[in-house]
Amino acid sequence: MNQIVVLNAGGQYCHLIARRIRDLGVHAVVADIATPASELRQVKGIIISGGPASVTEPSSPSVDTAIYKLDVPVLGICYGHQLLARDLGGLDSVKAGVTKEYGHATLTAANDCALFTKIPSRQDSDLKFTVWMSHGDTVQTQPPGFKVGGSTDDCAIAVIHHPDRKLFGLQFHPEVVHTEYGTEIYRNFVFDQCRCEKDWDPRARVEHVIADIRRVAGDRKVFFLISGGVDSTVAFTLCARALGAERVLGLYVDTGFMREGDAEAMQYLRNTFGERAVRLADRSADFFGRLQGVTHPEDKRAIIGETFVAVQEDEFARLRLREDEWLLGQGTIYPDTIESGGARHAAKIKTHHNRVERIQALLEAGRVIEPLVEFYKDEVRVLGEELGLPHDVVWRHPFPGPGLAVRCVAAEAHAAVEPAALSLPNGVAGWIVPVRTVGVQGDERSYSRLLVLAGLADVEAAGALARRVTNEHRTINRVGALVYERAGAAFGRVAIHPASLTRERVALLRAADALVTRIVRARGLYDAIWQMPVAMLPLGAAAGRETIVLRPVNSRDGMTADFARLPAPVVSELARALGELDGVDAVLYDVTNKPPATIELE
Ligand code: XMP
Repeated sequence: MNQIVVLNAGGQYCHLIARRIRDLGVHAVVADIATPASELRQVKGIIISGGPASVTEPSSPSVDTAIYKLDVPVLGICYGHQLLARDLGGLDSVKAGVTKEYGHATLTAANDCALFTKIPSRQDSDLKFTVWMSHGDTVQTQPPGFKVGGSTDDCAIAVIHHPDRKLFGLQFHPEVVHTEYGTEIYRNFVFDQCRCEKDWDPRARVEHVIADIRRVAGDRKVFFLISGGVDSTVAFTLCARALGAERVLGLYVDTGFMREGDAEAMQYLRNTFGERAVRLADRSADFFGRLQGVTHPEDKRAIIGETFVAVQEDEFARLRLREDEWLLGQGTIYPDTIESGGARHAAKIKTHHNRVERIQALLEAGRVIEPLVEFYKDEVRVLGEELGLPHDVVWRHPFPGPGLAVRCVAAEAHAAVEPAALSLPNGVAGWIVPVRTVGVQGDERSYSRLLVLAGLADVEAAGALARRVTNEHRTINRVGALVYERAGAAFGRVAIHPASLTRERVALLRAADALVTRIVRARGLYDAIWQMPVAMLPLGAAAGRETIVLRPVNSRDGMTADFARLPAPVVSELARALGELDGVDAVLYDVTNKPPATIELE
């Protein structure tokens, strides 16, 4: 069999590794980390993924060490790199938590490591390129027989390789787009070391998915909650193609947390499959009612997920649909499951609305169909194009199921911002905002403070400072540059005020979001940015006053992201326009990458 197996240590990027390899035209699958070596004898190559655990702890996930003797090339990545060092070099080879290193780093690589052939070398003999790091533990000594193949400023043994045995370890993540030459590294491993041949065409998957839907559904019909977004539209279309429009029923639920124009986006499905197949329901009163006074992000997510299930149950009762005849269809994509802690050993970053407890129970009872669960966002778009969906539907910015609810931050208590006790460049002011937002650091969820900076020369300088501060201070996971403060509401004097999700707050956020989208489209930037959440903090000179946060990001699949650089005149235009909205005291431009901050603020 011509394939690569990725052993899953629970890392956020595990399936991304398989994806990168499938992009090269080679069939790659993900398997449990403890898969016995006897089952891996026939594969062409083994990759051990990253993961949130520490190999220095006895209960940490481990491989069957017989895999190292199979004569099959092995590549360990991050946690996998450390595991390789520990398994072949002993416990002392890895040290826990010596340096924390997140984000970009420069790798100085050895020319004789087989993974780096075909990477164009610069004039000098050293090969240097940018890599993406996210780790706390570090390899201290290479195992016997291994050579060190590369290092960064903070990590002396960032690469190990055995010249004769085709065993490799990389501390960095070649699968994330921020690593320069990541594709070349995988190409060298897959084709030169593992001797794979091309056997995988992603565009040929539509028929396969349709066949799968028919197999899983059998005689049953499918009920879908749809949002107008690309995932649920593609999933619905696939089910309608597989089973016929008369065997699918879509319900668009107005949760109260939709963007302006969202309802129109699902019009495409109505036009294509008919009004009988695609219905509308305004359930915003239920959602707002259940969320009254709720402030913690995970509580919000749980309540929203449960309310979706309640709406679905009401609809089943109202339309007299029999549970044994209908499946629940969901447009769940792979990151929804891994971020919810669904893969073994993966840490829970957040509970996606389609992975709450009651949905899990339905999944276990075999009552759910999720045609896109193996795919990432960019693959879903490929499927959407293959299905002939309109460009606007396929290329709309992603929008989370819980909608504006995860962009409207809540707070329990009154607390003033404080000057940041950090060493900052001359002329730069910094404040710690007493509100927490969600992040992901070293494969784990974080829920930490926001730092606001003012007086920076430009967005590049802000981003560089954000990177340094979040690397050095674990209590800060997000940094915003102050781009507007209302006269009379100087930022140093604003405070967080108690607030939860109300119709008034969400209406202001919706207006801000619509304004930003209009300007970004008018300036020709919409297609150049992967996603541009507009979020809101209950931060201002008095209760009821708000701060708007611009969060433009570039990403390939949402798993990692760089904050997007907006031209300075556009930032000024956005700041000015938002400042004119009634209720807005300040505007921030989020200049944090993911990691350490997630895309949504929650
Ligand atoms: P984070 O905030 O985790 O977001 O960096 C990564 C991507 O996922 C989207 N997102 C969601 N999508 N249901 C969804 O369908 C959800 O519950 C959800 N939460 C986050 C987010 O918008 C970004 O594109």
